[in-house]
Amino acid sequence: MEDAIVLYPSPGMGHLISMVELGKLILKHHPSFSITILILTPPYTTGSTAQYIATVNAAAPSLTFHHLPTIPLSAATKHVEQLAFELSRLSNPNLHQALQTISHTSNLKALIFDFFNNAAFEVATNLHIPAFYYYTSGASSLTGLLYTPTLHRNTTKSFKDDNTLLHIPGIPPIHASEMPTPLLVRDTDVYNNFLQTGTQMSKSNGIILNTFELLETKAVKAISDGLCVPDGPTASIFCIGPLISTNHVGDEHECMSWLNSQPSRSVLFLCFGSMGLFSAKQLKEIATGLENCGHRFLWVVRAPPAENKSQSQSILTPEEPNLDELLPQGFLERTKDKGRVVKSWIPQMDVLSHDSVGGFVTHCGWNSVLEAVCAGVPMIAWPLYAEQKMNMVFMVKEMKVAVALTATNESEDGFVSAGELEKRVRELMESDRGKEVRERVLGIRNGAVATMKEGGSSLVALAKLAHLWKQTVT
Ligand SMILES: *[C@@H]1O[C@H](CO)[C@@H](O)[C@H](O)[C@H]1NC(C)=O
Ligand SMILES: *[C@@H]1O[C@H](CO)[C@@H](O)[C@H](O)[C@H]1NC(C)=O
Ligand SMILES: *[C@@H]1O[C@H](CO)[C@@H](O)[C@H](O)[C@H]1NC(C)=O
Repeated sequence: MEDAIVLYPSPGMGHLISMVELGKLILKHHPSFSITILILTPPYTTGSTAQYIATVNAAAPSLTFHHLPTIPLSAATKHVEQLAFELSRLSNPNLHQALQTISHTSNLKALIFDFFNNAAFEVATNLHIPAFYYYTSGASSLTGLLYTPTLHRNTTKSFKDDNTLLHIPGIPPIHASEMPTPLLVRDTDVYNNFLQTGTQMSKSNGIILNTFELLETKAVKAISDGLCVPDGPTASIFCIGPLISTNHVGDEHECMSWLNSQPSRSVLFLCFGSMGLFSAKQLKEIATGLENCGHRFLWVVRAPPAENKSQSQSILTPEEPNLDELLPQGFLERTKDKGRVVKSWIPQMDVLSHDSVGGFVTHCGWNSVLEAVCAGVPMIAWPLYAEQKMNMVFMVKEMKVAVALTATNESEDGFVSAGELEKRVRELMESDRGKEVRERVLGIRNGAVATMKEGGSSLVALAKLAHLWKQTVT
């Protein structure tokens, strides 16, 4: 019987892509394992997941995809994060059955599951399958997740009402309000799910992270030294990144030929992930800032959340933006020689790798941060949701690969003025400070390449995992 590893991603596009890349990495360096990826089919949209899987299937036929049955689940008023946790819990009987079936024909050496599929831990334990968490963000935000149970015991306040600095081992002090969005209000379902995940992770057989040691040296060391779980053992961590998507879906995007005609490092790229939605007022303000700063730009615009929908409904069923209505009158005409506005999916890594791109305004989603680092593009950090504010603190203060935007009015959902955006774009694209940030990110890019070569820290960590799996008696 062959040795099998089962991967169990959360269905959001960024999470799925990251896990698929992990599967490809394992197969490339340790081809004796067979890899099955269990796909959750949620009753809500998750981007063009089906097309992506078809593309991967064609390019990497040795990855086996197995779809678990669809679960009925109402997306009505809930956080997207809560939906992800619930979907996983409700799918446990199907997971159990799938793992049993696979173990009839192979030696099941490990179940690697996304941290949103926290409920899978119980199934793996019941079936005596080694359980590994896959954390799709970086070590810096993982310190916060592992330390949350400790912070929870130390206070009765919600993070959103706690006006103090938190001292989490391995990262610079952060304001309580910079903790991940779903953790801000204490004792909600989603808060409790994160709390339980933070507790349970340290009891697993290991935590695999899409990062590399050089990028997050202090955070990695703090976790490895056990400082983030002061009252018990911490599971071993394995930094095997940076994993970024190399799958191309469809034809070349029309923005690429426009980029070809722009000067080297002249274009500012603005893209905020599939869930980064701005109000109409904020979109107009961004447009004004871009026009005033005079730099070339490539901007991906999404429709604002509809007024009669909840935020998660807007995210799950996106609408096409009406640019004529959303942008200032005459903006597209006046900027047509300098800029492009795109309202659909864009091949982000291809854009970032293009020589014409000189800066990236990002929501600080972890996949985007890794892509920018691997492309050597300096960033302007505009965190929006999830653990992005924590990522920003680390990107600006620790790694120094980004400059931060300052929200003009936090009570207005972090509204940023045109003047602030213009100032930061000039700082990044024109000043000595910007030059330092660029040099720094180029240095880290070289480190990222080295870590994925023979003897590099990420391949060494992967080899340790493979050795562990081989030794497991099933
Ligand atoms: C617990 O709270 C107190 C008072 O706010 C603070 O001084 C201390 O550092 C906190 N301890 C931990 C472990 O966060
Ligand atoms: C929201 O309003 C728009 C326009 O008024 C309408 O077309 C749409 O069906 C409404 N959506 C919901 C979920 O009520
Ligand atoms: C911030 O926004 C709130 C809500 O719109 C408003 O009441 C307040 O005056 C604003 N503060 C500043 C400093 O602009």
